[in-house]
Amino acid sequence: MNNSERRRKKIIAGNWKMNKTPAQATLYIGSLLPKIENIDGADIILCVPFTDIHAAAAAVSGTPIKIGAQNVHYAEAGAYTGEISAAMLRECGVEYVVVGHSERRGYFGETDVTVNLRARAALKGGLKVILCVGEDIDERESGITDELVTMQLYTALLGVTKDELERVIIAYEPIWAIGTGKTATSEQAECECALIRDLLTKKYGEAGQKTAILYGGSMNASNAAELLSKENIDGGLIGGASLKEDDFAAIIKAAGTI
Ligand code: PGA
Repeated sequence: MNNSERRRKKIIAGNWKMNKTPAQATLYIGSLLPKIENIDGADIILCVPFTDIHAAAAAVSGTPIKIGAQNVHYAEAGAYTGEISAAMLRECGVEYVVVGHSERRGYFGETDVTVNLRARAALKGGLKVILCVGEDIDERESGITDELVTMQLYTALLGVTKDELERVIIAYEPIWAIGTGKTATSEQAECECALIRDLLTKKYGEAGQKTAILYGGSMNASNAAELLSKENIDGGLIGGASLKEDDFAAIIKAAGTI
């Protein structure tokens, strides 16, 4: 397979985190749509708070934008106060779900084991998973980034089949770059994304070449084109810069022209 055959369609995913009410979600989508008309070089996903799903799914209906959630529980149903199942998300029009975001790991006690359980439950429930991995600044400075990313990736993918991998997107998100305005250089980002590609190919063979790998961590309108030009960076998971329609539209445009 040569490079052009291998080339994967770009994916631009916004991660709103805990921002926007349903009314604000509707307004945002109404204002984003005309700004991205005629761009078909990138798939667009908006990962919105649970409470925005209904409004956001209605606002994107009939458009190419897909809706994602920001977490999912691993049980099908039961006594898990405050949690949401894959079936609940599906029925509300959700197609994607972020699993293992560093804010879930750091603030809410998610471990590699629960990330694996959630990813498998999401896949079993018919969702597509955006699986996040990435090191913090101490891990990077100690020189263990590759080992850490390897462990996070392989633990999260335990029990995930080659067929299921078709519904998995990996997001490499160095924690020190998230929300800090400090972006990894395109070389640093490509280096980890290439490692992830290698690890996927070792585990799944040729199927690993098709998996989309996103970069996340202060991606914005000015650095997107450079990051997205790298061989193994197939898109972005974008927090801060996805909150403003103009900024997000600029990133989508950059992706659509690469
Ligand atoms: P950021 O967030 O773009 O604000 O750095 C990225 C993310 O956490 O997904």
